[in-house]
Amino acid sequence: MLVTGGAGFIGSHLIEACLERSNEVAVLDSFHPFYPRECKEANLRSARTHAGFAKLYEGDIRAPAFLRRVFDGFRPEAVVHLAARAGVRPSLEAPQEYCDVNLTGTALLLQEAAHAGVQRFIFASSSSVYGEKPRGPFVEDAATDRPLSPYGATKRGGELLCHAMHHTSGLAITCLRIFTAYGPRQRPDLAIHKFARLMLAGRPIPVFGDGSAERDFTFVEDLVEGVLQALDRAGGFHIYNLGRGRPVTLNETIAVLERELGIPAKRETLPPQPGDVPRTWASIERARRELGYEPRVELDEGVRVFATWLREEGGCASW
Ligand SMILES: NC(=O)c1ccc[n+]([C@@H]2O[C@H](COP(=O)([O-])OP(=O)(O)OC[C@H]3O[C@@H](n4cnc5c(N)ncnc54)[C@H](O)[C@@H]3O)[C@@H](O)[C@H]2O)c1
Repeated sequence: MLVTGGAGFIGSHLIEACLERSNEVAVLDSFHPFYPRECKEANLRSARTHAGFAKLYEGDIRAPAFLRRVFDGFRPEAVVHLAARAGVRPSLEAPQEYCDVNLTGTALLLQEAAHAGVQRFIFASSSSVYGEKPRGPFVEDAATDRPLSPYGATKRGGELLCHAMHHTSGLAITCLRIFTAYGPRQRPDLAIHKFARLMLAGRPIPVFGDGSAERDFTFVEDLVEGVLQALDRAGGFHIYNLGRGRPVTLNETIAVLERELGIPAKRETLPPQPGDVPRTWASIERARRELGYEPRVELDEGVRVFATWLREEGGCASW
């Protein structure tokens, strides 16, 4: 299996789970400097010692000749495509790069995968494709023509490219709409990691709005289990939400962090951010029914595991 973006947060967990299942894994990653290279090297450290770790291909999914070398060299049966410019807020500052990587890069990778006769392709999409929904859990058939950020728009565009490639080549593709992943190695720009580091340093945490915004936080191990289930059952073209199915307010999230870190948070209240949605909430019924997906980890338990990692390994210290 080839994992693009495998040196990142979710990818490095997925690789370890695949190696445990005795899959042979190769990683393609450009080590994009959005957060430091050392953090990504640390993410891969343990996996690289495993006999099933075939190769690390360092390069960019936007480079066709590089992609051809990777597919000729490794000949993957399955591809999990996680490489992306990720994150809502930075996409407002760099829409062109988000389009380049998330659309052009995805189109080139799909083309190469179809050319190489790959059997199964998984695309990491995002809850951001839904934009703002007034109430109730987000179902996969809901309208997705009103994303609120360039990031959400490029993820929806990626899904559409996947569908077109499935239609024209027969490549089996599953798009997974991921809802706010957290856990050890979480990206340092994301809420739980960012808040925890600031709290440990005795610094105030930026709270955009009144803290009532809700996120459907999903523990990375639950998510990885869902990706493996999607890989095992892939065929045709599918879209699934992978979330916890239980949104939590920002205020509750901060309270959990305070409890697990044993430190009161100092808050800096800031205006709501453009691009941010008031709530994410996954309906996981389709994934449960068709994949057997069953997330198990509650927020306080997951934050405890995260806090232990942060204390023992220092998080992404150079961020
Ligand atoms: N973390 C979340 O909560 C979340 C939520 C929804 C969707 N996703 C999606 O899941 C995927 C993984 O997210 P993550 O949080 O692990 O992010 P991450 O930034 O930790 O990992 C992404 C990896 O992609 C690599 N990359 C970036 N541009 C590249 C390029 N042009 N060529 C090759 N590699 C490149 C980066 O170096 C990085 O290691 C992304 O596609 C993201 O959009 C994540």
